[in-house]
Amino acid sequence: MTRIDYFFQCINCKSNYETGEILYECPRCRDLLEIRYDYVRLGSLIDTRLWRSRSFAVWRYREMLPISHDMKTVTLGEGGTGLHKSENLANDLKLNRLCVKFEGENPTGSFKDRGMTVAVSKALETQARMVMCASTGNTSASLSAYAARAGLRCVVLIPAGKIGQGKLAQAMAHGAIILEIEGNFDDALRSAMELTRRDRSIALLNSVNPFRVEGQKTLAYEVCDQLGFKSPDVVVVPVGNAGNISAIWKGFEELYTMRIIEQVPRMIGIQAEGAAPIASAYKQKNLEIQMVERPETIATAIRIGAPASWKKALRAVSDSQGAMEIVSDEEILQAQKDLARREGLFVEPASASSVAGLKKLLEQDLIGRDEEVVCVATGHGLKDTQIVTRICEPPIKTKADIESIQSALSERLER
Ligand code: F0G
Repeated sequence: MTRIDYFFQCINCKSNYETGEILYECPRCRDLLEIRYDYVRLGSLIDTRLWRSRSFAVWRYREMLPISHDMKTVTLGEGGTGLHKSENLANDLKLNRLCVKFEGENPTGSFKDRGMTVAVSKALETQARMVMCASTGNTSASLSAYAARAGLRCVVLIPAGKIGQGKLAQAMAHGAIILEIEGNFDDALRSAMELTRRDRSIALLNSVNPFRVEGQKTLAYEVCDQLGFKSPDVVVVPVGNAGNISAIWKGFEELYTMRIIEQVPRMIGIQAEGAAPIASAYKQKNLEIQMVERPETIATAIRIGAPASWKKALRAVSDSQGAMEIVSDEEILQAQKDLARREGLFVEPASASSVAGLKKLLEQDLIGRDEEVVCVATGHGLKDTQIVTRICEPPIKTKADIESIQSALSERLER
């Protein structure tokens, strides 16, 4: 049964579409689509106590997800990640309340799993012959796993030599067909979009797929849930293709519209220097972004020059009275180290950009020291270990006898 209690709405011309199919762009103006619900009806229906009685995971909020209730879901137990009270970092930054939402705790190690459980379920329901994505690594790792679970053929397009080894290993392990393309993520996404336009039997699983966004918005639901159905003051998010910041903002907006929370947070998007078209436009007060032809940053996950959801990200920032900031590779690596050494959280470089950005915004007084801040750490550090093993102190080589070990140890401790 396909019970349609949601509809697609174009973010540009606001046309509405009711269909059981997956739409990726507005048939009229070709801009992106968002899924919308009857919020008045849902607002009177939702019972947060019922949510609380279910296990803490993406599907806890199933009334707010666009699938019929008897539909088969493809799940690996995604979501339900920790909101870590980060007192050491907060002290270092002279900040009262700081939490890190650690998305590395998801089944494949990144926030992408939230979107995949919904969108792969939908692909299965609509009898897709195959699923496909372009990726800087995490999307391909996640899609490969969910496709394997669903028994669907999976094709991933990745930029050759530019993704973390852990992510590549995941896609290989799950048996995806991996196409390493010449060029960067932007080239891969363009081709994946065109290919799936030509062959409708292949489902596109990038964040232009509105069902992905629906799953990812549950991060906002969880944060509010973890704070007692209250919103934090500020949420800081790394930005690449810009699907995630848009999804998280959508989650907060929905909760506010349904009067489940009384205020919304300011959304702060962080981009890496060398791959910062949206943050640059924001800073120059431009309404359009200028694509970056050859994006470069050590944070390979967000090495993106032509982000698909840039309009939605700028809207999230302006509607929430937030901001965008740019951080250097050096600042990203320092934040990665701080999270690992002060909080015990090992995140990949792109994920640390939120904490790097937070530091800069505090320096500019754009975030107050008494505000409640949530930084989203989007992916696990084990996915991309190359840089860490290069910049951290290497292991000390020693013979195995007690004397050698003691002497190596005291030499190290004296330093
Ligand atoms: N952090 C990590 C670890 C990511 O993998 C990504 C995106 C982002 C942040 C940015 O999220 O694109 O929604 O703004 N990774 C995509 C991928 C592009 O292919 O894995 P976004």
